[in-house]
Amino acid sequence: MSNGQNQSWRPTKRDAMFLGIVAAVIILLVLGTSERTTKDVPSDETHRAVSKLSECLSCHGAEGVRPQPVGHIKGGQCFQCHIQPKGWRGASK
Ligand code: HEC
Ligand code: HEC
Repeated sequence: MSNGQNQSWRPTKRDAMFLGIVAAVIILLVLGTSERTTKDVPSDETHRAVSKLSECLSCHGAEGVRPQPVGHIKGGQCFQCHIQPKGWRGASK
């Protein structure tokens, strides 16, 4: 009788685990894309006043009051990653 031809597929424990892992990876990817970790430039007087990259680094350079985190990209266009405040009047840097 059991010639293996019309055996229907029945999920085993291994199949269930595999599907579980696939589902977990997809969920993590979806959650990961919706979450921005780069902080916006604060919309305060200080940050509205600066218009030069070198000014940013006088506070956010290694010696500044608020240094960039260790391993942060050196230089670069700040506003490519840190969105500038609304009503910004300085030049894009
Ligand atoms: C006069 C000093 C000063 C200058 C100039 C300055 N910042 Fe800041 N910045 C600060 C301080 C202090 C904070 C943290 C306090 C706060 O949240 O307002 C901060 C916070 C930030 C944050 C948010 C991250 C955090 O720690 O909360 C970003 C992004 C940032 N600055 C980017 C910039 C960029 C880009 C420029 C140049 C256009 C710039 N800053 C110029 C002093 C400065
Ligand atoms: C390639 C993208 C990129 C560019 C360009 C960039 N940053 Fe960042 N910056 C990040 C990311 C991502 C983080 C948060 C991750 C971390 O802590 O390293 C961060 C963190 C920071 C923080 C600390 C925020 C906190 O969490 O307290 C400051 C201050 C900052 N950046 C300033 C600057 C300044 C000033 C410039 C321009 C000279 C700049 N960044 C350019 C991506 C960037």
